[in-house]
Amino acid sequence: MKNFKLFLKVKIFNFKDKIFTIFNFYKNFKYFLLDSVFSFIYLFINPYREVRIFNQKKGLSDIYTYGETPIKTIYKIAKESNIDKKSNFLELGSGRGNVSFFIRLIFKCKVTAIEWVDKLINISKFLNKIFYLRIIFLKKDMFEISFNNFTHIYLYGTCLNEKEILKFTDKFKKESKKAKIITISYDLNFYDKDYKTTKSFDVDFAYGKTKAYINILKEHRNGE
Ligand SMILES: C[S@@+](CC[C@H](N)C(=O)[O-])C[C@H]1O[C@@H](n2cnc3c(N)ncnc32)[C@H](O)[C@@H]1O
Repeated sequence: MKNFKLFLKVKIFNFKDKIFTIFNFYKNFKYFLLDSVFSFIYLFINPYREVRIFNQKKGLSDIYTYGETPIKTIYKIAKESNIDKKSNFLELGSGRGNVSFFIRLIFKCKVTAIEWVDKLINISKFLNKIFYLRIIFLKKDMFEISFNNFTHIYLYGTCLNEKEILKFTDKFKKESKKAKIITISYDLNFYDKDYKTTKSFDVDFAYGKTKAYINILKEHRNGE
């Protein structure tokens, strides 16, 4: 009964997010087309299952690591972090790619997305090609790419452990001194005192409310 209630809550949440998306963004015809094809394809593929199987094969201890950022939430994050045409956005662990597709088509900036689950990244690449979106989708381990030149880095990695977060903060320090790093549920200052939070605000996910944080390196001043 408890599981059914949770299932229903998530379905209703996703339905509301879809209505929000339709009313606010389907006037962008390309986004409407892309989102329709995207939703159709994913009637037949379950991303939670794909990620679980991938993680199992990799022998990871935590296999249930999939989750998605709702469109209403990524829209709020993009507005709060001042993403615009001149931004260079990086999504670490892009899953189905819905965040990257949205940022590219609505905010029209440069987008790079990293994901290591074959089926998910292959579908993202396919949609990217047929809709000529020019997003850079890379099938890679996100710990092994260079973070140079990005203005915004989105890390929805609630399943990362402390060691992994510290690996990121070290890498960000060397390769993306000026980037705004957007994290969900935790700020980077908690793990590494060289970072400060310039903004934090409530965001909604299917599982409930949490906070988004905009983190920057302390030496860096960006006028916020
Ligand atoms: C919580 S989901 C977030 C999906 C998407 N960013 C969103 O917000 O809707 C995390 C994604 O990161 C991917 N991922 C986890 N570790 C990764 C790694 N080391 N390299 C590349 N992708 C990774 C997972 O496969 C999963 O699709």
